[in-house]
Amino acid sequence: MCGIVGYIGKRHALPIILDGLKRLEYRGYDSSGVAILTEAGLTIKRRKGKIKDLVELVRHETIDGTMGLGHTRWATHGKPSDENAHPHRAGDVVVVHNGIIENYTELRAFLKDRGHHFKSETDTEMIAHLIEDHIKAGEPFEGAVLSAVRLLKGSFALGIMHVKTPDRLITVREASPIVLGFGNDENLFASDMPAILPYTDRMMFMKDGTMAVITPDAVRLMDFSGRGLPTEPGRYDISATMAEKGGYKHFMQKEIFEQPHAITDTMRDRILFDTKDITLGDVLLEEKGLGSVKRIHFVACGTSYHAGLAGKYIVEEITGIPVDVDVASEFRYRTPLVNKGTLTIAISQSGETADTIAAIRLAQRQQSSTLGICNVIDSTVARESDQVLYTHAGPEISVASTKAFTSQLIAIYLLAIHIGRITGRVSRQQASAYIDTLVSLPSLLDAILKQEDRIVAIAKEYSRYSDFLYLGRGISYPVALEGALKLKEISYIHAEGYPAGEIKHGPIALVGPDMPVVFIAVKGRVYDKIRSNIEQVKARDGKIISFTTADGREVPELSDAVFFLPAIDELFTPVLSVVPLQMLAYHIAVLNGTDVDQPKNLAKSVTVE
Ligand code: M6R
Repeated sequence: MCGIVGYIGKRHALPIILDGLKRLEYRGYDSSGVAILTEAGLTIKRRKGKIKDLVELVRHETIDGTMGLGHTRWATHGKPSDENAHPHRAGDVVVVHNGIIENYTELRAFLKDRGHHFKSETDTEMIAHLIEDHIKAGEPFEGAVLSAVRLLKGSFALGIMHVKTPDRLITVREASPIVLGFGNDENLFASDMPAILPYTDRMMFMKDGTMAVITPDAVRLMDFSGRGLPTEPGRYDISATMAEKGGYKHFMQKEIFEQPHAITDTMRDRILFDTKDITLGDVLLEEKGLGSVKRIHFVACGTSYHAGLAGKYIVEEITGIPVDVDVASEFRYRTPLVNKGTLTIAISQSGETADTIAAIRLAQRQQSSTLGICNVIDSTVARESDQVLYTHAGPEISVASTKAFTSQLIAIYLLAIHIGRITGRVSRQQASAYIDTLVSLPSLLDAILKQEDRIVAIAKEYSRYSDFLYLGRGISYPVALEGALKLKEISYIHAEGYPAGEIKHGPIALVGPDMPVVFIAVKGRVYDKIRSNIEQVKARDGKIISFTTADGREVPELSDAVFFLPAIDELFTPVLSVVPLQMLAYHIAVLNGTDVDQPKNLAKSVTVE
């Protein structure tokens, strides 16, 4: 949560920082601010609301310094307001912060006793005072920052400026991400790559417990004891336009439409077409113990958790290995039964979700081997897991996750087939059939996306209802959960996902003409069962919207609205059936005028508990 940007170089810093903040706005949008150091002194501008409000605030000002900091906030300590917006200043020290300081109350009380006065309710202002306190005690800027961060407990990515040391910026990373960008006569840092991509492709992800001192022509890295560390930037071949809307109205719509491409990229170089087999590179070989895994345990949050739930059906069916699935925030606070024979798989688009990171750390303490299924390269989950399987879906900017989900599913199919081949459970012939289905998915997805008009028509008819029930059985049950999550998070309409077989145990009491029921009714093991669930809802005057692979007339005849899905092996249907549900949520939200890409109260990466 929260995005920070820092720039130092020869160009005007303000437009670079504002542009960076726009690219990080998915991380939080309660307030934003900039601090620019000019020859005339320091200018700080802060504003409650979105980046556009900050842009409006500075529109007619001349702020021409060549170094500065920026921040976009997702409120933790203190409500969204101008006063609580970052940057925060104490004397000559200016700080922007992403994270939470756990010992903030004690440190604030300590500083108050030493005569410091606070203007905001934030933990960040306390950090500025703490650094100032050390500078007043005679320490140089760098030493004061090191002394201060050694006292902090919690998670923090910081950008720091000292008015009396105008030739450098400092950034610090502890449990919140920072990527450094290495340019020509200019250097940058930010919470995520999109803020840096327009300026350089040479980047480096900082590690926990490190600090970087940044001038226009150098970046010096050290640990919190002050010991120097090597800087090793890599080249990242991602264009800035990948993080732009490219003609779509919203990032969410763009990312929905990118799915055929995204899942192709997840499969790329991992399917061997000559032998009809899977290769997952130099990770995940038999020597790494995959052949002897006794149990698999998925841990994840939100949409990634739904991918894990679908993963249980996929992995158990393909490999015969028992699978458990946990919400990471539950897993981390009980005594999960993972151990040496368990492979714990953390699924996370961002790789920075605090609960998911804590879950893999716990699994590792219990001797479980760990695998991250991540989209963001070099993210914490990717780095800390024993092995990583990247989804390569490209940057996902919209808060509502879409292409991350389908690409996570593809990674799970690849992994399951790979394990099945290693254990001998999956024959070459069977692997070949699975692979044929996998490679058919992108064009089937294309065909679904071409029917957007049909979804718009359904959305128009149903956008005014205030409650929805989503029902699926078997592998379509996680899809129902995901469809409901999409609708509620971007349109603020109450939606619940349920296993259809459970409606008789309670939810059917809600059914009536005022509550549309969305069915995911795919041909397969439980098709007859879900068809009879549709009949039960129909008998109670429920409004039925069906997403079905049915070729017969029963489901369409029972439904008030129907969307036809291509028929494929039931095990692979989630990749297809989730997409019209994403589009339905998107168009209902657009019709209701909500802020699709930045829904209220949410942020893209949940890096705090
Ligand atoms: O980055 P992660 O995959 O770990 O994020 C997990 C959830 O926060 C995320 O999926 C969230 O539920 C999305 N807003 C759903 O659209």
